[in-house]
Amino acid sequence: MRIKDEKAMLAFGRKLAAALQAGDVITLSGPLSAGKTTLVRGLLAGLGHKGEVPSPSFALVQPYEMLKPPVWHVDLYRIEDPSELDELGLDDIAGDGALLVEWPEHAGRRTWSNALALSLDVLEDGARALTAEVPAAWEGRWPPR
Ligand SMILES: Nc1ncnc2c1ncn2[C@@H]1O[C@H](COP(=O)(O)OP(=O)(O)OP(=O)(O)O)[C@@H](O)[C@H]1O
Ligand SMILES: [Mg+2]
Repeated sequence: MRIKDEKAMLAFGRKLAAALQAGDVITLSGPLSAGKTTLVRGLLAGLGHKGEVPSPSFALVQPYEMLKPPVWHVDLYRIEDPSELDELGLDDIAGDGALLVEWPEHAGRRTWSNALALSLDVLEDGARALTAEVPAAWEGRWPPR
């Protein structure tokens, strides 16, 4: 799927928000500045979040507990070893909220085997290409509309 600019990425995030359920994990792969956080901004706006959406590259985890479902926005860019993940307490969240994870590769392989795995690539003209690995849990919910 081609996403032509930042505005379109925000709009896509909003559509994805309408499909989001508690227990979901969405991983967001792609190079620096691919638009991962931009997609999350659109998604959070779609859930009614007003205000800022800082990139959690330093905090690692940014909670939005007042939303339905509550969302935890995670950025693992600075994780160097998958064992550091235990300290983040993400296991306790599963089920009650939704997890949106940038740089999931830094957690090691197969950490979130049931995740909706989204990848963003930068195209020559600056637009983004979005590809998805869709698990059974998302059948009927993908693509969002
Ligand atoms: N189609 C597009 N979708 C999203 N962002 C775009 C698009 N075209 C250009 N941009 C620009 O690319 C940048 C994307 O930044 P963003 O923080 O979302 O990337 P990121 O993938 O989260 O990067 P990082 O790996 O550093 O966390 C923004 O400055 C945005 O304006
Ligand atoms: Mg980011």
